[in-house]
Amino acid sequence: MATTSSPERTIPFTGTASRTMRANVFVAPNRIEIRDVPKPQAGPGEAIIRLTLTTICGTDLHILRGEYPVRPGLVIGHEAVGVIEELGAGVTGYEVGDRVLVGAITPCGQCHACLSGHQSQCGHGSGFEAIGGWRFGNTIDGAQAEYLRVPYAQANLAKIPGDLRDEQVVLLADIASTGFSGAESGGVKPGDSVVVFGQGPIGLCATIGARLMGAARVIGVDPDAHRREVAKKMGADIVIDPSATDVAAEVKLITGGGADVAIEALGTQATFEAGLRSLRAGGTLSSLGVYSGKLGVPYDAFAAGLGDIRIVTTLCPGGKERMRRLMELVQHGRVDLTPLLTHRFPLERIGEAYALFGEHRDGVLKVAITF
Ligand SMILES: NC(=O)c1ccc[n+]([C@@H]2O[C@H](COP(=O)([O-])OP(=O)(O)OC[C@H]3O[C@@H](n4cnc5c(N)ncnc54)[C@H](O)[C@@H]3O)[C@@H](O)[C@H]2O)c1
Ligand SMILES: [Zn+2]
Ligand SMILES: [Zn+2]
Repeated sequence: MATTSSPERTIPFTGTASRTMRANVFVAPNRIEIRDVPKPQAGPGEAIIRLTLTTICGTDLHILRGEYPVRPGLVIGHEAVGVIEELGAGVTGYEVGDRVLVGAITPCGQCHACLSGHQSQCGHGSGFEAIGGWRFGNTIDGAQAEYLRVPYAQANLAKIPGDLRDEQVVLLADIASTGFSGAESGGVKPGDSVVVFGQGPIGLCATIGARLMGAARVIGVDPDAHRREVAKKMGADIVIDPSATDVAAEVKLITGGGADVAIEALGTQATFEAGLRSLRAGGTLSSLGVYSGKLGVPYDAFAAGLGDIRIVTTLCPGGKERMRRLMELVQHGRVDLTPLLTHRFPLERIGEAYALFGEHRDGVLKVAITF
């Protein structure tokens, strides 16, 4: 069982040198399993952390359903809080036993993309590679396991200040970094009106991020009444039910002509388009959603290309400096994401957690996976 974090816990030996760990493995579409897999070891520049808390992302649901392909046998998950267990050669400034937060995106810090400020599009040693910075639970084993091998550890281990609990920082690894980046990439300025499409975990963090960036008015859009209520608690001034209202017309009315920034946090043609239609001329559509199939830009909403409209996309920013800054926000009371952690499950019961999270049951927003 993997349900205790007591210091005397040991990992069973299953042979001469091989040690195993419990991990959530992608087996096939609609099938994940908790299995014994080899415990990872740190190579040069790497670190092993013993997980103390993780969670499940909407993107993990896409993987489970086979909508985002990963190789069978991969350990999934990409949000990690833990304790350093082993440091590979060349990793300096850390001690075994340090508590660390590791972002969902692990840039190398050395390639052309990283050194040009596009860490999430990290090019594996050279060049640029779209989505290349997303490794955990995508191209290498991920965080829904007792241990995690962290690549480029020097760039990615963010020490957790002693006064912060795991629950206060785990959501910074992905949803907060992503949601806030929606407002940052959209260039939200003091006094702006911002509309956020989708008030799931990502959209709620975009709402919080818009306020952090100085928005005067934040409008949250979601058909789910419970999520609209949460949106108000997390900082939305006005909420709109898109199943009952023409959102673009309503936003234009409320703002006197259109939002300065629209943030898309769902990933559909309908919300992408409604975002564009909600903008004033010269406004920015900041897109966070993951789309599938064809995505079209309607020429009228885009003012035939002459409306000075900007469309920007952002993959979750990662790396230890991003994590340090986000933890500063929590430590100094600017942000509290703990209300979004609505349920807790031990790793052994992660299947139940996926079902609850995937079906949006019982007011779930994010699920804490404990060890
Ligand atoms: N850019 C990134 O780096 C990044 C990172 C993580 C997740 N994502 C993506 O962000 C998206 C949102 O993630 P999430 O975990 O918050 O998902 P979610 O499914 O929990 O939230 C989506 C919300 O949109 C609402 N919604 C449905 N129809 C709507 C409509 N017509 N108008 C407005 N809202 C509507 C739903 O009720 C739900 O609350 C997903 O596509 C996910 O894959 C992107
Ligand atoms: Zn994610
Ligand atoms: Zn890189």
